[in-house]
Amino acid sequence: MILALETSCDDTCAAVITRAGEIRSNVVSSQGIHDRYGGVVPEIASRHHLELVNAVVDDALAQAGATLDDAELIAVTQGPGLIGALLVGVATAKGLAAARRLPLAPVDHLQGHVAANFLAPDPIEPPFLCLLASGGHTLLARVTEHGAHERLGSTLDDAAGEAFDKGARLLGLGYPGGPALSKLALDGDPGAFSFPTAAGVGGLDFSFAGLKTALLYKVRELGEEQARLRRADLAASYEHAIVETLILRVERAIDAEPGTPRLAIGGGVAANARLRERAAGLGVPVKIPPIALCTDNAAMIGSAARWVEPVPFPGYLGLDAYPTAA
Ligand code: KG4
Ligand code: ZN
Repeated sequence: MILALETSCDDTCAAVITRAGEIRSNVVSSQGIHDRYGGVVPEIASRHHLELVNAVVDDALAQAGATLDDAELIAVTQGPGLIGALLVGVATAKGLAAARRLPLAPVDHLQGHVAANFLAPDPIEPPFLCLLASGGHTLLARVTEHGAHERLGSTLDDAAGEAFDKGARLLGLGYPGGPALSKLALDGDPGAFSFPTAAGVGGLDFSFAGLKTALLYKVRELGEEQARLRRADLAASYEHAIVETLILRVERAIDAEPGTPRLAIGGGVAANARLRERAAGLGVPVKIPPIALCTDNAAMIGSAARWVEPVPFPGYLGLDAYPTAA
């Protein structure tokens, strides 16, 4: 069995999976303390990982009915992410692996999101196109083998989830803003306001900074009273623009692929009902893993580890985390 850890942002995660990709346990401890600051505070995230990680690992083993003796490989997110947060996971993984002289597999976080698609009971095989949209990253990739992805485009500024979060904040909603904003949007008209979809950004790159500014200006232009009265319309139109920004690039990528490519969607924004609806209408087969596997989790890291060359003891003791993609 593979024992996997993920601590790249504010969720402390551990999972036990089999080589065949069956999930025996998948524990996520969301810190839930960052909402009062309107976003993740890196230093606080690191400290909480440190407090939670041993209990989360114990929990994952217990839920799997396993002990450390059953683990044959330790997997951990090496990056990208918050460096202090990553280091807690990497140090913990090194300790667990070294204690049993087990090999360690360092996993790229984004490859982890891709590998969520390879987990049982409903894995898909490459090749496929993959849209990853979360609070930390937004990219479009081509996946032709299990162990890697080719980046076709990524965001030039904010991530899609970040755009949801910042928009929600402007509209006076809590953090994380995605779920709250899309709930409010249900009562609004997506055509009420016209927000930009960065259509002028050619190719497959995304941009959300202009959209966020457009919302800010619109709220100011309406004035406090009107902005409050029309909150649902603002939310619906803003959500519409984010989703169309994503879908436009996906459509471009689909058009550029030969045949009928398949599409997989991951990251926290995959929970968005409007995005799912739009993706389902693209005329290609679409796979969206269960939401628990779309948002940050360790099962996806264990899954990706199956295609990573494991580092034998003691070679990994000097392993470092990396904050940004190479
Ligand atoms: O993957 P994730 O849990 O963590 C990161 O790696 O960032 O993604 C979290 C992001 C947040 O920005 C959150 O607002 C967004 O996903 N999100 C949503 C929805 N649920 C979560 N965005 C839009 N609609 C949703 N229903
Ligand atoms: Zn992520």
